[in-house]
Amino acid sequence: MNAEDICPRPDRLPPQATSPLSPPIFQSAVYRCESPQQAAELMTGELPGYIYRRDGHPNADLLADKLRELHAAERAIVCASGMAALAAAALSQLSTGDHVVVSNQLYGRNLTLLVQELSRLGVANTVVDTCDARATEAAFQPSSKMLVVETITNPCLRVPDLALLARLARQRGARLLVDNTFAGPLLCRPLELGADLVLESLTKIINGHSDVILGTLLGKADCWQRVPQVVSTWGLASSPLDCWLTLRGLGTLALRVERSSANALAAAEFLARQPAVEAVHYPGLAAHPDHRLAAAQFGGRYGSMVTFTLPGGTAAAETFIAAAERIPFSPSLGDLSTTLSHPESTSHRGHTPEQRAALGIFGGTIRLSVGIESSGYILDALAEGLRGGGAHD
Ligand SMILES: Cc1ncc(COP(=O)(O)O)c(C=O)c1O
Repeated sequence: MNAEDICPRPDRLPPQATSPLSPPIFQSAVYRCESPQQAAELMTGELPGYIYRRDGHPNADLLADKLRELHAAERAIVCASGMAALAAAALSQLSTGDHVVVSNQLYGRNLTLLVQELSRLGVANTVVDTCDARATEAAFQPSSKMLVVETITNPCLRVPDLALLARLARQRGARLLVDNTFAGPLLCRPLELGADLVLESLTKIINGHSDVILGTLLGKADCWQRVPQVVSTWGLASSPLDCWLTLRGLGTLALRVERSSANALAAAEFLARQPAVEAVHYPGLAAHPDHRLAAAQFGGRYGSMVTFTLPGGTAAAETFIAAAERIPFSPSLGDLSTTLSHPESTSHRGHTPEQRAALGIFGGTIRLSVGIESSGYILDALAEGLRGGGAHD
């Protein structure tokens, strides 16, 4: 063989009688077909298999299968990010002239997509407090096609009644899409409560290691007709390495959720006992406005997010953040470690002070994503932060 003609691509994979315990990473962008007829059969779906990664790849399908099982969904697809999953939902379900009803407490970029971006495509919207069933009912129009809510809102962790909202949407001929990122499938499976579509940013709790950006869309078969085409055509598909890492993260999901939920409850109870803390938001606390609903909807666990407000505004938050050295200020969520975020300067910086106040967000509001360290470590780290703020524990 001429040395220049040695190609790194194998003609065939080495024969083997065993299969790997850890799935391979199928990094290939394209697959080799045996014949034009085989290519045609693969493209029409008559033959199972892959041709071009943007249309599908094994790592995405391995992960999508697990997520489908976890959510008891009829269909599932993995997308490049949580935002790509929302784009896939919107672009597959909506057309010019349609109307969407949107929760006023959605993640900021979700709101931007559904309100600003969809308006450009001729999809109208009404933004409403979806914890208020009457207001939500009144927001529907004859052209309403979709209601979009989050299972647990950011940052005040309100919990809408998903079964009720699913009924409302169905009565109005609309579909319910639930962003389940803050809850995840161990706390809540919105499809079982009547939702038609569910999305999750896998970037967060599901992967759990802050080293991947990925999302998923799951749903009922009758919503699915346009989804695969939209994901491929708008370029929303996932990367094999991100899928591989997320599948690995999924293996410890149950352990992480159990531990971080217990830690979050301990942190919320600790913060609620501190005179220097003005308000604590955690659905697991009896004082939370949605506690009973959350207890029923989440089966006795309340997740890893805790939000609290210090009196003294932004300056108090800054002092806390500087003093709580062991808790990284990292405006995301779902990591192994406890992290914190400051909604006023990050997720809700585009809101006016009045809009933030209406959502319960003030300068002194801090959002914790509680990790899987020992609870003693987390409570000590919080106490350090509070001491820095001039409080005594
Ligand atoms: C509730 C929620 N939904 C969706 C997203 C978007 O996910 P991604 O960052 O993976 O695009 C985020 C990201 O922070 C989020 O918090």
